[in-house]
Amino acid sequence: MNYRHAYHAGNFADVLKHVVLTALLERLADKPKPFGVLDVHAGRGSYDLDGAEAQRTGEQASGIARLWPARAEAPPLTRRYLELVRAANAGGDDDTPPHLYPGSPWLISRLLREGDSLQACELEPGEHTALSAALRRQRGVAVHRRDAWEALGALLPPREKRGLVLIDPPYEPPAAEQDRVIAGLREVRRRFAGGVVALWYPIKDAAGSRSFLRRLAALDLGEALVAELCVWPDDTRLRMNGSGMLIVNPPWQIERALEPELAWLWQHLANDGLGRYTLRRLQPR
Ligand SMILES: C[S@@+](CC[C@H](N)C(=O)[O-])C[C@H]1O[C@@H](n2cnc3c(N)ncnc32)[C@H](O)[C@@H]1O
Repeated sequence: MNYRHAYHAGNFADVLKHVVLTALLERLADKPKPFGVLDVHAGRGSYDLDGAEAQRTGEQASGIARLWPARAEAPPLTRRYLELVRAANAGGDDDTPPHLYPGSPWLISRLLREGDSLQACELEPGEHTALSAALRRQRGVAVHRRDAWEALGALLPPREKRGLVLIDPPYEPPAAEQDRVIAGLREVRRRFAGGVVALWYPIKDAAGSRSFLRRLAALDLGEALVAELCVWPDDTRLRMNGSGMLIVNPPWQIERALEPELAWLWQHLANDGLGRYTLRRLQPR
């Protein structure tokens, strides 16, 4: 496994993923009953944006760094996410863009209430060690060095019997990883049918993402929502033009809450007004 998220931390795809994640967790916290989160591709939890990997790609420049100057005008869920990014940079100057970017398990751990829990899995040994350090002493958090696809079978349902599963694979290689996602979603459906599932996927070209969404729709997942943010037209010849989040069992009225957030993100992250944002139901076939 060669993938290292440090090359991509804080890019426009992380921003979409983490705003949607924040929205889903805030919604789960609307009810007093505790919830459990399973993050099966957790990464290292915290990323040094001044480090060699991040500096080599500079991807945060078109993601978190581009949003930072406008953060006072951000809509509520994006503002909540940006507050968490700021908290991850405690002690930093408010106006300078963040030097550390918090990964999904770090953000989730800060959105848990007393009684909620997070199980975070990471397979790569160095990333797992860094993750354990990043989440040390966080209440309700357990870190595992464990394969994501095996964890979906072993750690679901959560003991709270309500909650969220985040699936965020590197898609390397893309076809094999898509097959694993399909099998993994079937497993989640079998073991935790009522759970909210958030699946991240890249958008490289229109035909490729259409065919992946067709396969997802054929799974008959029940209610599912697709939130996509592209910062270039879908077929631009770049590594990635945008990304999407599939939300299975979307919380009540989440579409209404996400619409202004996606509109604002697109307005601030799109290149020259290109690309798009989309929020729609995934129709079963
Ligand atoms: C896209 S990154 C995760 C980023 C993280 N979810 C976030 O938002 O901050 C994918 C991570 O999954 C890990 N990974 C890849 N295959 C895995 C597997 N089969 N089981 C567990 N972790 C895996 C990689 O080492 C990498 O750290």
